[in-house]
Amino acid sequence: MKMPTVLGVETTKGGELFQIHCAGCHANGGNIVRRWKNLKIRTLKKNKLDSVEAIASLVKNGKNNMSSYQDRLTPAEIETVSAYVLQQAENGWH
Ligand code: HEC
Repeated sequence: MKMPTVLGVETTKGGELFQIHCAGCHANGGNIVRRWKNLKIRTLKKNKLDSVEAIASLVKNGKNNMSSYQDRLTPAEIETVSAYVLQQAENGWH
């Protein structure tokens, strides 16, 4: 089934990227390393990460125990996976 798109980006691809690169620590929008730094919309809002740009910048540069992804993902892939994260957060990670 075709998923809805955010910014014209296929979120199916975002889901695949998320499973490969992020789900190890963030399965279902959680965070197994820093439990309170999860990807729920309330947390993202509180940390001013409730935009694709803000998430993409964090993913690109990394933060504390989360490593940088700029050597592993292209800018387009970072944008795609960030749009997926925001969309899932807004949908409550169902
Ligand atoms: C090795 C485990 C690990 C992996 C893999 C990982 N992260 Fe993280 N992530 C973390 C940790 C730890 C933090 C908390 C960083 C901090 O101290 O602020 C975090 C924080 C975040 C945050 C901010 C959450 C908040 O509420 O402050 C976002 C968004 C995020 N990660 C997205 C991603 C995405 C997208 C990927 C895949 C490209 C990814 N992460 C891969 C461990 C990981």
